[in-house]
Amino acid sequence: MERNRWYKDMVFYQIWPRSFKDGNGDGMGDLWGVLEKLDYIKSLGCDGIWFSPIYPSPGADCGYDIADYMDIAPEFGGMEAFKKVLEGVHQRGMKLIMDLVVNHTSDEHEWFQKSRKRIEPYTDYYIWRPAKPNGKLPNNWDSNFEGKAWTWDEERGEYYLHLFAVKQPDLNMDNPLVREEVKKILRFWLDMGVDGFREDVITYISKAEGLPDDHLFPIYKGMPKYNHGPHIHEYLAEFKRDVFDHYDCFTLAEAPLVWPKQALKYIDEEKGQIDMMIQFQCQCADCLFTDYLPTKFMLVRMKKAFSDWQKKLSGKAWNMLYMENHDHPRIISRYGSEKFREESGKSIAVSYLFQQGTPFLYQGQEIGMLNWKPEDAEMYEDVQTRYNYAHSNLKKSKEERLHKMWRSSRDSARTPVQWDSSENAGFTTGTPWFYVNPNYKEINVAAQEADPDSLLNFYRKAINLRKSLKAVRFGNYKEYYRLDNKLYVYSREYENQKILVVCSFSEKETKIRVPSGFDLEKAKIVLGNYENKEKTLKPYETRVYLWE
Ligand code: GLC
Ligand code: CA
Repeated sequence: MERNRWYKDMVFYQIWPRSFKDGNGDGMGDLWGVLEKLDYIKSLGCDGIWFSPIYPSPGADCGYDIADYMDIAPEFGGMEAFKKVLEGVHQRGMKLIMDLVVNHTSDEHEWFQKSRKRIEPYTDYYIWRPAKPNGKLPNNWDSNFEGKAWTWDEERGEYYLHLFAVKQPDLNMDNPLVREEVKKILRFWLDMGVDGFREDVITYISKAEGLPDDHLFPIYKGMPKYNHGPHIHEYLAEFKRDVFDHYDCFTLAEAPLVWPKQALKYIDEEKGQIDMMIQFQCQCADCLFTDYLPTKFMLVRMKKAFSDWQKKLSGKAWNMLYMENHDHPRIISRYGSEKFREESGKSIAVSYLFQQGTPFLYQGQEIGMLNWKPEDAEMYEDVQTRYNYAHSNLKKSKEERLHKMWRSSRDSARTPVQWDSSENAGFTTGTPWFYVNPNYKEINVAAQEADPDSLLNFYRKAINLRKSLKAVRFGNYKEYYRLDNKLYVYSREYENQKILVVCSFSEKETKIRVPSGFDLEKAKIVLGNYENKEKTLKPYETRVYLWE
């Protein structure tokens, strides 16, 4: 049975704070900048904000390496600015969720500093192992970012496990004291009034007993031994029982490699331990598992991913929907067309906004920002990109290697938000911490505010429409022409309301396909990106038909 929870009626906006808006002129995005833009976010129809980490951090992974979980970094404005933002969000009837990163901490966190000195009770807060007698590493796992998953610590005289960067040691969640620390963190923020958490790679927190070698996985060796590990449901249930059940909040779990059937073990509305999951399948229509193994974009793969989740969760669980976040290159550059930027941006928007779930937008998506394409690999900041570039196929030319980075780097989507056509795209009055995409003179918020047909205003219309339709909130989902690699056609139906969504993903004109039983003569087109009623769709045309 479906439970009615407030997040089901909402649309969220993700802020990656460093690049959102600089409020004090030091070149780095911050919470003062967010304060200035709360009305803008609300004007999109977004009623919730997810903050990527804003805690004190040395910044080895842009904040996903946390040095103090119960404070806000001074460069973002500290606790004072945060409280103002939280108040501003709530005053506008919006919600705010934080990023909870507890698979690992920064190596500069006090717990790690004490753990490496074996100061109690921190000795077993992390996953330490001695060297093997033959001098080999404790096991054969790879980190997700930088080579092997083990680094030797001179001070302790042991290896520590890090599934991500060297500066991100994994916490030992099997230690009950560590789980108590997590609960303290959760209560700290919930008591302050935050409305929930996005939980970073939370499916990694329980590692297989004995940390065995992995002989299965071709990339990220070890993943089957720590993703969805033996105690994962138990630990998540413990957090729910001891903390979340006592607050009116929600949880969103990031889950690399998860399929709907397995997801139900987490998000089933009756039995699950969390509310929604970030799945990666919708991101794999142009790659194998990860952006770093790019393939040609195949619409059928995108459709299959979306449809699978829509159908298999139906009536059992509710999930989030997204096209972009801070970990993937820009969607128009991948699934759409830079040449038909506005058109394809609109078709992409419609393709996911009318499904069942809670949609998320990533900063800049609403104006159709494109991949950043530096001319030199030295310009990359991201730890994963730097490692990948250094280890990319040296037999290939520099151009080829760079092109691959443009397509796969997380930095492609981490450049400052383009607010207007003034210097530095209006992001800062100082020197920006990172490069601004040179296309900001054409692509920016101010220009699109002034144009009623812009992508920005289209997002507003689409979100508004979505919220007004019962069929989108409650209706069943049906996909048509599964094997068509140019058109995505699906319907949603609830009581006497029915919509048909048609999205072309082709640069060419394409004949519309309409399933039987849908009489277009009796329908209204309630959203579209062309003034066109003909049977032939224009490049990347999208239409939403309504019957009621
Ligand atoms: C998640 C985050 C990503 C981060 C990683 C390690 O995948 O979204 O940005 O680098 O976890 O914390
Ligand atoms: Ca700043």
